[in-house]
Amino acid sequence: MTLTDKFNRPLRDLRISVTDRCNFRCTYCMPAEVFGEGYQFLPRHEILTYEEITRIARVMVALGVVKLRLTGGEPLVREQLEVLIEMLTAIDGVEDIALTTNGYLLPQKAQALKDAGLQRVTVSLDTLDDAIFRQMNGGRAGVKRVLQGIAAAERAGLTPIKINAVVQRGVNDHTVVDLARYCHDHGYIVRFIEYMDVGNLNGWQWDQVVSADEIVSRIDTELPLELIEENYQGEVAKRYRFRDGAGEIGLITSVTKPFCGSCTRMRLSPEGQLFTCLFGTQGADLREPLRAGASDDELATFIRGLWRKRTDRYSEERASLREARHKVEMYHIGG
Ligand code: GTP
Ligand code: 5AD
Ligand code: SF4
Ligand code: SF4
Repeated sequence: MTLTDKFNRPLRDLRISVTDRCNFRCTYCMPAEVFGEGYQFLPRHEILTYEEITRIARVMVALGVVKLRLTGGEPLVREQLEVLIEMLTAIDGVEDIALTTNGYLLPQKAQALKDAGLQRVTVSLDTLDDAIFRQMNGGRAGVKRVLQGIAAAERAGLTPIKINAVVQRGVNDHTVVDLARYCHDHGYIVRFIEYMDVGNLNGWQWDQVVSADEIVSRIDTELPLELIEENYQGEVAKRYRFRDGAGEIGLITSVTKPFCGSCTRMRLSPEGQLFTCLFGTQGADLREPLRAGASDDELATFIRGLWRKRTDRYSEERASLREARHKVEMYHIGG
């Protein structure tokens, strides 16, 4: 029987954050003023081992999960991520394994990831303007380095390549057409993400959000677009194809047109907490029972109980919430 939550949403995806560390300091995620030299990240022993992650994934697959995505922090800063990928691809019933990365380490990692069974990557790249990009990532990398990472992923066959770009008004919104054109010309699927109020540290304000409609209309005037059907039910991105026949873009409309109604995603934090929403306050600790010797059946019962009582729909409620709530940070739980 399908496991569903209070709103009849099945559990289909598991997003696994493998580390809370990152080699970038994006202003909207890990502002450098907060995450400086002395910042204490999770110590090694608190982080789930690859064996523990794989065991949890296997239990979730038995409960209906078909899609896995590895995130962070920056997942490639964790040692030998390809070993985890190999373990996850060996689980029967997994239909799709993807990775979200900032691309910096892809030149040296892409082939090993592919060999381990990774199917595709999504690379974050907010703009092609080098000065703006550096400003957005805390001065950690230039555009060229990320493009090299993307090219390495393409050579390794980690396709289709998707590019995630967070759009912030007054920061990079005037560069969306350039990025769309570049991706059109190179066969990458760019997805523009409305700037979200994840976490508590980025100082998010409504007036910094550029709506998907506005992004589409800016691009459409230069590169005509047409709305197309979703690939699968509950797809996060709304898709548009270029009318000249070559390729598509996606829009992630979490702020202006929330998609909670079809949200089938569970998130696992690096230290083994389960979050049933990206905007969750408190995770449910799975590590404690795991390390105390719980059986697979016991873990499954825990997860089933959590999902059955799920009522999350933060993005739909956002506009009517009076008080700001404390939310888990993006670098901790992944995108
Ligand atoms: P595929 O369709 O499998 O390629 O992936 P996806 O659409 O899930 O893409 P990805 O994981 O790259 O997600 C894109 C971005 O959408 C994330 O980085 C988040 O910023 C946002 N996002 C993904 N899932 C959710 C969600 O459940 N809620 C909200 N509010 N935003 C989400
Ligand atoms: N709003 C929208 N997207 C964000 N991301 C990180 N923080 C935010 C935010 N506040 C994106 C990253 C990456 C993905 C994991 O989530 O740029 O592409
Ligand atoms: Fe790192 Fe990604 Fe956060 Fe940027 S958005 S700081 S690359 S985890
Ligand atoms: Fe899912 Fe929460 Fe995002 Fe809504 S806000 S789509 S419930 S993760």
